[in-house]
Amino acid sequence: MKKFLSVDDVPDITALITKALAYKVNPLADKTLGAGKSMGLLFLNPSMRTRLSTQIAAQNLGMEPIVFNVGQDGWTLEFEEEAIMSGNTVEHVKEAAPILGKYFDVLGIRTFPSLKNKEDDYSELYINQFVKYCGIPVVSLESATLHPLQSLTDLITITELFKENRRPKIVLTWAPHVKALPQCVANSFAQWVNAWGKADFVIAHPEDYELDRKFTQGARITHHQEEALKDADFVYVKNWSTYTDYGRIYCNDPEWMLTNEKLESTHNAKVMHCLPVRRNVELSDEVLDGSNSLVIHQAANRVWAAQVVLSEILRGIKK
Ligand code: CP
Repeated sequence: MKKFLSVDDVPDITALITKALAYKVNPLADKTLGAGKSMGLLFLNPSMRTRLSTQIAAQNLGMEPIVFNVGQDGWTLEFEEEAIMSGNTVEHVKEAAPILGKYFDVLGIRTFPSLKNKEDDYSELYINQFVKYCGIPVVSLESATLHPLQSLTDLITITELFKENRRPKIVLTWAPHVKALPQCVANSFAQWVNAWGKADFVIAHPEDYELDRKFTQGARITHHQEEALKDADFVYVKNWSTYTDYGRIYCNDPEWMLTNEKLESTHNAKVMHCLPVRRNVELSDEVLDGSNSLVIHQAANRVWAAQVVLSEILRGIKK
C-alpha cells in the first residue's frame, strides 16, 4: 500500500479485516517490521482516539511515532498554489511537506474541513498537497471529507461480532447535535460499507441532510428512522451538517436521538458511534450505558485498524 486516504487505496477489504483481527489476537506478531522507521503524526485539529491508537499501533510494529500538533504548536500553513502570503499564513506546504518527508518514513495527517466552502473541502486540498509534496506515504487520520481509519475499524468490529450465516442489516442514522459537524464519518462509513458489499445498508436522515451520492450510491436512503431501524443488526449513530446548502444545521429535532424504545423493532441491534459523543443529545444515556452499546469496543479496535494499515504501508516501502 502506497497511501491510505480512502477505501480506494485498499485492494481487498475482507483480507485487510482478517489481518487486523489477527493483530488483535497477537499484537506483537510483526514487532520488528517497522524497526528503524519513524512516523510523523500531524494534527491540525483535536483528537484522542486516532492520536493514541495510531501511536500504539506504530509502536507494536517497532516504529517510532512522533506527534506534532500543527494547529497548536506549528506555523500556520498555506496550501494554495501561487499564494501571496501577506496574511496570516507563515509557512507554505511546499516547504513544510518535503521537510517532513526528510524527517519521517510515513506521515499521518488530520485536517478537518472548514465547512464554509464545499468545493474547497471536497477537493481535499490540504491532504492532497501533503501527498503531492512530502514524497513519502501519507495516512489519513481524518481529512476534510473522509475518515478511513474509523470506517475500517467499524467493519472490523461488525465482522468480529456478526456470526450469523446471512447478510447483516446495517443502519446509519443521523442524530441531533448542537454544532455543525463534518460529513466525514458518514461519507466514509457509507463508502466502505458499499465497497465491502456484504450488508443490507440503509441510511436514515431528516430531509435536507443528503450526503454526496458518490459515497452513498448502493445504500437505501430514507427520511423515516423508525422504518429504517426495523430488523437492524447494527445501528450506527452520527450527526452531520447539511451537504447541499453546505455546513448548516437545519434541524436539531430531539426525536432523532436513538432510545431503547426505538431499538425494540431491531434485531437486538448493536449500537455504534465513532466518539466523541454528546450524551443525551446524540445518544441517550440508556443506550450508551446499555448492553447493546459497542462504542468502547469499537474505539478499542482503532488500534488494529491503524496497525494493519501501517503494516501494509511498511511492506510497500520495503518493496
Ligand atoms: N473517532 C475519532 O476519530 O476520535 P478522535 O477524534 O478522538 O480521534
